[in-house]
Amino acid sequence: MSGAGAEQVRVSTADRICTIEIHRPEKKNALTGEMYDAMADAIAGAEADPEVRVVLLRGQPGCFTAGNDLADFVAAGRAGGTGVGAPAPRFLAAIRTARKPLVAAVGGVAVGIGTTMLLHCELVFAAPDARFQMPFVPLGLVPEGGSSLLLPMVAGYQRAAEWLLLGRPFGAEEARGGGLVNEVVPAERLMERAREAALALAALPPESVRIAKEMMKRPHAAALAERMDDEIRVFGERLSSPEALAAMQAFFARKRG
Ligand code: COA
Repeated sequence: MSGAGAEQVRVSTADRICTIEIHRPEKKNALTGEMYDAMADAIAGAEADPEVRVVLLRGQPGCFTAGNDLADFVAAGRAGGTGVGAPAPRFLAAIRTARKPLVAAVGGVAVGIGTTMLLHCELVFAAPDARFQMPFVPLGLVPEGGSSLLLPMVAGYQRAAEWLLLGRPFGAEEARGGGLVNEVVPAERLMERAREAALALAALPPESVRIAKEMMKRPHAAALAERMDDEIRVFGERLSSPEALAAMQAFFARKRG
């Protein structure tokens, strides 16, 4: 892993919990290819390490992640037909296939993949300031991370359509009502509560946890793998569409306007 990937994704293991902290606060934790690779490596390491029983995903209080780095999307779109590159799909495959349980602590912005990655977690804790958004369609793109399949299942079709088509931002309580969040926790307790839950999972018989997780995921596992491949292919095509290029240029032009 390069220096930037290691600096912007901080990985530590203690008490049988592997914590993956996204740390690029000056860009609202927007994720680059190096960062996805670092996160995928960390999950692979946790899966292989018999000392690790749980993976905890977090940002800082007030910032989970603003999603994929839009500059990378613009570059991929301008390059035309090169798709999304390997790192993001690799990270998504890592969380889709993780056998150990995943816990997330979400405060502040959770945009794009910052929301869709939560659909793969067993336990999600959110602070009241959490702001979720999946602005794929407004950006001229399509849903990713399996959200076109999982979100209608989790939240119901109409709510999923509202979140995925309109790309409307929503808060922690609404996310909890929609089944995306287990518990809304005061901001100052967020990291502690997520850690408590991770410790509780880590204290359970690990084989039993893994088998139960696999059983819960099994009914949709094949369809999810297929859908995520599909989403990635279409997402890659859409990146070079005039709709997407115009929407992303508008984001970077907003401060100059
Ligand atoms: N990609 C690249 N840079 C991003 C980014 C992203 N996804 N999100 C934020 N940034 C950068 C901004 O360009 C800005 O950089 P600058 O200071 O060099 O100009 C910095 O992070 C701070 O962002 P800013 O927009 O000033 O913060 P905010 O608090 O006003 O708004 C967001 C936060 C997350 C609501 C807003 O930045 C946003 O909408 N980002 C885009 C999210 C997105 O569309 N993600 C992709 C989903 S598929």
